[in-house]
Formats: sequence, structure tokens, C-alpha cells
Amino acid sequence: MSDIERLIALDRAHIWHPYTQQATAPMPVPIASGRGAWLRGMDGRAYLDLIASWWVSIHGHAHPVIAQAIAEQAHTLEQVIFTGLTHEPAIRLAERLVQRLPKGLTRVFFSDDGSTAVEVAMKMACHYWRNSGQERGRFLVFEGAYHGDTVGAMSASRSSGFFEGYGRMLFEVDRVPFPATWEGDAAVEEKESQALAALDRYLEAGASGCAAMLVEPLIQGAGGMRMCRPGFLHAVAERLSRAGVLLIVDEVMTGFGRCGTLFACEKAGIVPDLICLSKGLTGGFLPMAVTVAREGIYEAFLGETFDRALAHGHSFTANALGCAAALASLSLFESENTLARIAAIESIHRERLGALQRGIVAPRVMGVVAAMELALSDRAYGSAFTPRLIRFFLDRGMIVRPLGSVLYLIPPYCITAEELHRGWDAIEEAVDHFVH
Ligand SMILES: Cc1ncc(COP(=O)(O)O)c(C=O)c1O
Repeated sequence: MSDIERLIALDRAHIWHPYTQQATAPMPVPIASGRGAWLRGMDGRAYLDLIASWWVSIHGHAHPVIAQAIAEQAHTLEQVIFTGLTHEPAIRLAERLVQRLPKGLTRVFFSDDGSTAVEVAMKMACHYWRNSGQERGRFLVFEGAYHGDTVGAMSASRSSGFFEGYGRMLFEVDRVPFPATWEGDAAVEEKESQALAALDRYLEAGASGCAAMLVEPLIQGAGGMRMCRPGFLHAVAERLSRAGVLLIVDEVMTGFGRCGTLFACEKAGIVPDLICLSKGLTGGFLPMAVTVAREGIYEAFLGETFDRALAHGHSFTANALGCAAALASLSLFESENTLARIAAIESIHRERLGALQRGIVAPRVMGVVAAMELALSDRAYGSAFTPRLIRFFLDRGMIVRPLGSVLYLIPPYCITAEELHRGWDAIEEAVDHFVH
């Protein structure tokens, strides 16, 4: 047995991988290292990471500036209890985030991952209303939303189709249609006006019990890279504000440049009451999240007694290494002119997707996200086709992970034009190969 085979056998013996049917999944590919847009397997093979490792690795793998910042921090202070104590990396990061976020979002609460950022936002919204003298416990979401894998986030995400096994432990949420659109979609205005009419009806009937609407701004990620137009989101935010319902935007996927602006909210010209950030926050180096609130939300938690305070926290809240990584990652946006890189990626996406004439439907691009549906007969997530498609790209030295029949690219921002074209060449080949 080779060293690699021994490791894989140990993996098989002891590890339970996420979103994996262990009985039928192919052997996982052991990865030894990463650099920029590339991963290197233990067998020496190189793989172009076209999905930024589940959308976290925004500047590419093992970026030396972030690695250095973490190393320095690790020699100084790695972690400290964050109640009763505080530390400079967290304070500086909170200040930087508030400077960069849409104006009005001023209070930063740290947690561990995208799901916990959402869970915290939902708890904040519910408790905000209680502290304001109202009992509001219902949440409104768009159909097809995905917000994470903890109970509140799963409840909000039920219609994404991932959580059939857990129905009995989830709570009910309310839903309105999401006007998913794509290039050349003649029905977009009709879909938007129907979605807004449904929202209006809901708000007229149920606004007084609704704590907040929870929204993935501009792109529903795990639900299939479904996009909506910025103007639609703006109209939604206006209606919620008029009806006195809080708006929580979940920028776990869209945050830190994905849609072409630092935050998707900027593109839609909205300022939510609460925003959730994770994934790209630390440049993909460490698990960390923040939920950032408007000052008015925060103020509702102030008082003489603990029962008005937010009863939430995690052992690793505001981990100092994560904060150092996040500060370094934010600095790269300036030093590497990252938003210009993102614009260049978007224009290659547009050119190449525009040239794909057949075999796909609903092509769409926003920022570094390009998505399309392969015109297949079996569209179910987890169908036998998905592993074949993953294998097809692995054989060509590329990592992709389709969502059912939706094939998408979310490359790290450091990807070169030549590397990105290679990815698109492989997509063309895949369309020819799989769609008859
Ligand atoms: C929009 C959105 N929210 C929340 C999450 C959950 O984040 P995490 O996997 O870090 O818990 C995800 C993950 O893909 C996401 O895309």
C-alpha cells in the first residue's frame, strides 16, 4: 500500500464528510497544498479551483500576506475569552468593517461560520421586537433560499430541498416567490411584479407578526445560483421598511466582492437592518463570521437587566487569528486592486457564456459568478449525473461542484485570464459531452 492509499483508507475508516453519501461517494482526492487558484494533490497532480473551495478562498490559496498575518498573530495572542475581555485585532476589524459596509451598519457581533451568523441575526431580530414591546417570531424568506445548516437557518432554507430529513425539528417560515432571471429573460418584469405583489399581500396581512425578512441579496447561492435584478431587491427593501419589518441580508456568499461590488447591498443601493458575513471574511483561511447591526437594533438591547441583552456567544468568538486574517484579507482589496480583477473576470465570463450557443439554458453572470443549466433530462440534485460531471472536470485537473444540473464558476479573484479560459474550454467540452 502506498502512503496515499494508507491515508485514504484511514479517511474511510474515521471521517464522515459533509454533504456526502459515504456509501456511494468516490474516494476523496487527497490535497497536499494550495497556491493561488491551484490545489496540488498528494500524487502531484494540479487542480484549478474553479469554485474557490466552497466559495471561501477569495484571494486564492495560501496567500502569503494572510499567512504571514496569522503567523504573527499566533505568536502574540491566539485566542482569548471575548466577554469581559477584548483585543486589538477584533477592535480594528470591527472598525474596518463598519468603514466598508453600507453606512448605518455599526455594531459588529462575532461568531463562527455562515450558519451561526444567520442564527445570530434571527435571534437579534426576534429579541429586538421583544425588547421593543412586541412579540414577533415569524420570518419571511424567498422560495429557494439557503441560509445554512443550523436549525434556524435550515428552517429558513427548507424550500432549497436539502433538509427533507429534518422536517420535524424545523419551524415554519413564510415564503414569497423569487423572480430568478437570466440573460435574455423576456418574462423578468412579469415575475418581479408578481413577486412584489405577493410581498405586498403578505405585508398587508401578516406584517405585525413578522420579525424580519431574510434575504440572500442578488444571488441565491446553494439554491442554484439564481439571480435577481438589483432594482427588484431595492423595491423589496423599500416595502419592508414601509411595513416596519426588519431586513436581514445574508451576504455569506455574496460578500467581499462576489457580485462586483464589495457587498451586494451596494449594488442594490440598500442598507439592511442586519447583515451576515462569513466565507470570504478571513480570505478563506479560518472559520469566522460577523453579524452587523444598525445602531437602532443594538440600542434596543441596552438596559439595566440581563434579560434585554443578547444571550448568545461561542467559545471562539472573535478568534484573534481569524481577525488578523480578515484584516489582511481586507487590505488585499486595496493592494491588489481586487475589484478591478473581479471586473476582468466578469467580462471573460460574459464573453465565454455569450458564445455558448447550445446545450445550456438560463445563462447568467454577476461579478465572478457565472452559471447556466445544462439542458439535461434529470435535474435532481444528487442525481447520478452530478458525480460524473465532477469526475469529468477532475480528469481535466479542475474542481467544480454542480448544483443538480446547474453548472457554475466562482473562481478565486487571483485567477489569470489564461486559467479562466481553460475553465471555460472545459465547460464547452462538458456541454458537448453530456448534452446530446
Ligand atoms: C448564503 C449562505 N448563507 C449561509 C451559508 C452557511 O454558511 P456555513 O457553511 O459557513 O455555515 C451559506 C453556505 O453556503 C450560504 O451560501
